[in-house]
Amino acid sequence: MKKTYQAEPFRIKMVEPIKQTTRAERITLLKNAGYNPFSLKSDDVYIDLLTDSGTGAMSQNQWAAMMMGDEAYAGSRSFYRLESVVKKITGYAYFIPVHQGRGAEKVFLPQLVKHPGMYYISNIHFDTTRAHVELAGARAIDSVIEACYDLDQDHPFKGNFCLETLEKVILEKGPQEIAGIIMTITNNSAGGQPVSMENLRAVKKIADHYGIMTIIDGARYAENAYFIKEREQGYQDKDIIDIAREQFSYADVFLMSAKKDGLVNMGGLIAIKNRKDLYDLCRTYVVPYEGFPTYGGLNGRDMDALAVGLEEALDEHYLRYRIDQVRYLGDKLRAAGVPIQYPIGGHAVFVDCKRFAPHIPFDQFPALSVTNAVYIEAGVRGVEIGSLLLGRDPDTKENLESRTEFMRLTIPRRVYTSSHMDVVADAVIAVYQNRKELKGYRFTYESPILRHFTSTFEPIL
Ligand code: F0G
Repeated sequence: MKKTYQAEPFRIKMVEPIKQTTRAERITLLKNAGYNPFSLKSDDVYIDLLTDSGTGAMSQNQWAAMMMGDEAYAGSRSFYRLESVVKKITGYAYFIPVHQGRGAEKVFLPQLVKHPGMYYISNIHFDTTRAHVELAGARAIDSVIEACYDLDQDHPFKGNFCLETLEKVILEKGPQEIAGIIMTITNNSAGGQPVSMENLRAVKKIADHYGIMTIIDGARYAENAYFIKEREQGYQDKDIIDIAREQFSYADVFLMSAKKDGLVNMGGLIAIKNRKDLYDLCRTYVVPYEGFPTYGGLNGRDMDALAVGLEEALDEHYLRYRIDQVRYLGDKLRAAGVPIQYPIGGHAVFVDCKRFAPHIPFDQFPALSVTNAVYIEAGVRGVEIGSLLLGRDPDTKENLESRTEFMRLTIPRRVYTSSHMDVVADAVIAVYQNRKELKGYRFTYESPILRHFTSTFEPIL
């Protein structure tokens, strides 16, 4: 067989220097940051895997497109260019730009909540989506398949809806009480796990049967389409754009944080298939919240960069590199025995810190302990997604125990090379080998809301 050679499908024309610190410096830096990686200066981080959101690198075509930005307040050319790309990809009739994903959530989600106490059902609501559901007076219910929580089970679509739970909830609450069904693709909180086309189709069928609207929360919809091509029968010979369009055919609305698969640093969008009434409502609300409907909080040049980025993110060579790079890191960790969620998701490797540091109880935050140790080891910043993030029970004020304790190593798009991934893997493996020495943490200050961002800690020695 002929060998194929695979590496990054780009060469580097502009570079951003990054600084390496010494272990002794990092020990002090982390202490000064109250042992909270969110409080580190990015200058003191060598490889930053906090998020894949807005951290990607733009291409020469995107930078060139920015020079064509039309900064008119109303009717900008940049808006019309972006609109035509969004309509082409989605097949939807209506489009409104917003400044990022949560802007789309804030403008759109209240429109379907006719009275307080209605429900949105999702495979898993992302945090900001859940927050906007609740701010709109509704409640958020998750309905993901149980395989999602079996971290070793080799299931190709762990992000899928549990159809039985979905239908059960609809019948229990009454179809008229369901504001909408939100399909998160890929399913970020489930580990960047994809949702199959079969599952999307089945959800749409249930939604139609009960007269409920479906919404795609598609920050990583292109990565989802790639997984479908790779794993689902009947899609191997299809183009990514056609798979993407079929995904959109099963929804009525598309909300996007364009900071992921839009390949831009800031941006978002709302697209609506055919409901002119909803479009008119969103156009009304976007003005006070985000800006006039032909810019929605974005610069003209940002809309041009996004128009190009949306197309680039559907390129199959790019997507193969993208998914393979995340998998490369995950496979290296797995081969060394580090417990991770498997199969590996689209945008991040989720390290299972329950098994990594079983001697640290949930309320001493095992994933924070691993994350901090990895920073001290090599200046690599991951993020805790576990009991620290989950917070306290609002009534009893007890620490809630998360089902999973993850350190998320989130890979920015087109930013780091495979040598960077080698450094990350070596650092995590080194910490794993000395895992018995890891210590739990206690609060020195606990912030009352969204505590993971601003709280400070000390190690329990
Ligand atoms: N929906 C999903 C699935 C997301 O992953 C995010 C953001 C949002 C909505 C909100 O978008 O940040 O542009 O307002 N996820 C980031 C992350 C923050 O790190 O996973 P936003």
